[in-house]
Amino acid sequence: MQEDFKLGQLFSVQGKSALITGGSSGLGFNMAKGLLQNGVRVIIASRSRGKCDSALAELQEFGNCIAICADVTDREQRRRLVSQVGELEAGNGLNILINNAGTNWGASLEDYPDQGFEKVVNTNLNAVFSLTRDLVPLLAKAGTIEDPARIINIGSMDGLQVPVVQRVPTFAYSASKAALHHLTRALAVDLASRHITVNAVAPGFFESKMTDHVLANYRQDIEADCPLGRIGQPAEIVGIIVYLASRAGNYTNGTVIPVDGGTSISKGARPWSGSAP
Ligand SMILES: NC(=O)c1ccc[n+]([C@@H]2O[C@H](COP(=O)([O-])OP(=O)(O)OC[C@H]3O[C@@H](n4cnc5c(N)ncnc54)[C@H](OP(=O)(O)O)[C@@H]3O)[C@@H](O)[C@H]2O)c1
Repeated sequence: MQEDFKLGQLFSVQGKSALITGGSSGLGFNMAKGLLQNGVRVIIASRSRGKCDSALAELQEFGNCIAICADVTDREQRRRLVSQVGELEAGNGLNILINNAGTNWGASLEDYPDQGFEKVVNTNLNAVFSLTRDLVPLLAKAGTIEDPARIINIGSMDGLQVPVVQRVPTFAYSASKAALHHLTRALAVDLASRHITVNAVAPGFFESKMTDHVLANYRQDIEADCPLGRIGQPAEIVGIIVYLASRAGNYTNGTVIPVDGGTSISKGARPWSGSAP
């Protein structure tokens, strides 16, 4: 049989279903928009009713979108989220889970509170594990050997290197993202036999509420720290998500893919090349 390598076939996500945690703003919102524009039914979930409503008002223009208000760190709210997604996708199961909800806390070591550390680890790591475990039956229902279900964890380049440009230490964030990258590998090995792939994306700097303050104060340093000399654009996150969710990504499993313009492998100073472009 003639193989079809046309982009419309290779990168098609048409007709799939996706749950995006933290889909009400920033990167998750753009992922939702990108998937909707390409024929995916999207459920977004986040804590704030107001953020869910205003995101939904915009996203519904692009396709079939539903918002569920839920705090992924709260066991009862997570249970309700899993059961609502289960009802919505009872027919064919869930094709794509994007664990994107995340938070950060910056403080000097002496002032770093246990409560801040716990909040970040609970959101960025513990909730991802629990939600993923509870959604596995629904993902397994959708996954086949030819077209596995996908789990995409949003890690960070801060889980690959120690971040310094923002001047304030973010111990819990780096540690939680590094752990999330490794959880991705462990889950990938475990879930492959159930036709579910698990990958992580490790973004560099993108505009969002989380990076507002840092970009307002240190944008020049951030750009200079990146070999490409700039921050990332929404299309560059949507692109990697579409790749991982499409047929082109069927055989990619257990990876952590940096989308950071080369920042995490460049070690900052490049004296041989003068200033950044
Ligand atoms: N922007 C960047 O440069 C960058 C770089 C590397 C990695 N990342 C990662 O990308 C992901 C998205 O971040 P972002 O930059 O887009 O930040 P953002 O605009 O602040 O978005 C975070 C999203 O997560 C939701 N959220 C937070 N805590 C939650 C909880 N407990 N339960 C449910 N939803 C929750 C928020 O909505 P509610 O407030 O309504 O809950 C919001 O929708 C995060 O995992 C972040 O670590 C971002």
